[in-house]
Amino acid sequence: MDNPHYMRRIRSFVLRQGHLSTGQERALTEFGPQFVIPYAPQTLDLDAAFGRAAPRILEIGFGMGQATAEIAAGAPDTDFIGCEVHTPGVGSLLKLVGEMNLDNIRIVQHDVVDVLEHMIQPGALDGAHVFFPDPWHKKRHNKRRLIQPAFVKLLVSRIKQGGYLHLATDWEDYAIQMLEVLSAEPALQNTATDYAERPDYRPLTKFEQRGIRLGHGVWDLVFKVR
Ligand SMILES: C[S@@+](CC[C@H](N)C(=O)[O-])C[C@H]1O[C@@H](n2cnc3c(N)ncnc32)[C@H](O)[C@@H]1O
Repeated sequence: MDNPHYMRRIRSFVLRQGHLSTGQERALTEFGPQFVIPYAPQTLDLDAAFGRAAPRILEIGFGMGQATAEIAAGAPDTDFIGCEVHTPGVGSLLKLVGEMNLDNIRIVQHDVVDVLEHMIQPGALDGAHVFFPDPWHKKRHNKRRLIQPAFVKLLVSRIKQGGYLHLATDWEDYAIQMLEVLSAEPALQNTATDYAERPDYRPLTKFEQRGIRLGHGVWDLVFKVR
């Protein structure tokens, strides 16, 4: 049954109210109109949205946006589409956009599954980042994990040939699932034997630095689209 009203999709997030700081609220008002693209089930004209033609990377579930802002600041000739469902995160990234004077970020506040299905055209992206997606570590919640065969197939169809998909996680069991799912997707080719070295453009988060000090692992996966 294809009618969305009857489809009950298992989502990879639970919408929480979440506290908005004054700074986030101000950033939403001040920068939202310029940098947030409202979700609509129709093709998004990316050249119009960014006012130029440039390589485009999708940042999925950017959280508070620190990594996205840092990556975008380091790559001014690339455009970044950030997708996140939580309002405080959107406010936080907008605050960084203002503070760092970034012009190469646009935000869609909506479930990335719908955004990929309806707004992003096949082959429109040069790459996608999924950094530390919610691990849903309880067995009965594993089905909520974003990285599953159908989602990866959809995501990869939106990335052009020669583009890449970069995932990172600090949850070993999810890393194993990621490696299995990506390796089984015929349109993807691993750039490493299994896990990859962290590419320089992905900044080490504070949380990650602490984890490394405590001996916890972080796994990066970098695959190319055939
Ligand atoms: C654990 S956080 C990681 C944040 C960030 N990438 C980082 O590395 O710090 C995962 C984020 O993904 C977002 N998320 C989960 N499922 C999503 C979906 N289907 N569409 C958009 N965002 C989603 C959540 O709201 C959450 O903020």
